[in-house]
Amino acid sequence: MIFPIRAFGDPVLRKKCDSIPTDYPDLKELINSMYETMDESNGVGLAAPQIGLDIRLFVIDSTSMYDKDGEGVRTAFINAEMLEETEKPWAFEEGCLSIPHIRENVDRHAKIRLKYQDENFKWHEAEFDGMTARVIQHEYDHIEGILFIDHISPLKRRLLKGKLADISKGKISVDYRMKFPKR
Ligand code: NI
Repeated sequence: MIFPIRAFGDPVLRKKCDSIPTDYPDLKELINSMYETMDESNGVGLAAPQIGLDIRLFVIDSTSMYDKDGEGVRTAFINAEMLEETEKPWAFEEGCLSIPHIRENVDRHAKIRLKYQDENFKWHEAEFDGMTARVIQHEYDHIEGILFIDHISPLKRRLLKGKLADISKGKISVDYRMKFPKR
């Protein structure tokens, strides 16, 4: 099932998300729907709050950001906990399905170590770097109620005010389904 993506201004995007219990109903179907919704909108990551759920779940697919086959990952992360962010931060222009048509440079650490559960609630601890680390950091922010525009300078943020207001009112054209808080 393809969900509409919640737009900037929706209060769910500002929630610190709750842990997911092992008896959460139909979690596998939900994860499949999140992959489907991400693929349909050509995203490289999607977090549960972006479809209106304040739970600690996100999916990523960073394979398209690498040239070589077998690089990047397509994975679901449940109850992720960031353990470490290390190595020199680097800048890259990020976007977000909830904030269409806005792209800004964001500094992020080059390497991360995190703990997470898979679809079967098995715990993993793993290190990621490069674009995969960046995508995970962006999605991890979402389950903490943080958006990429929170990382840019107050001046740049002020310059985006009008555009952000338009997004929350749905005064924007996008080629995937969205749900706007003020329309
Ligand atoms: Ni995003």
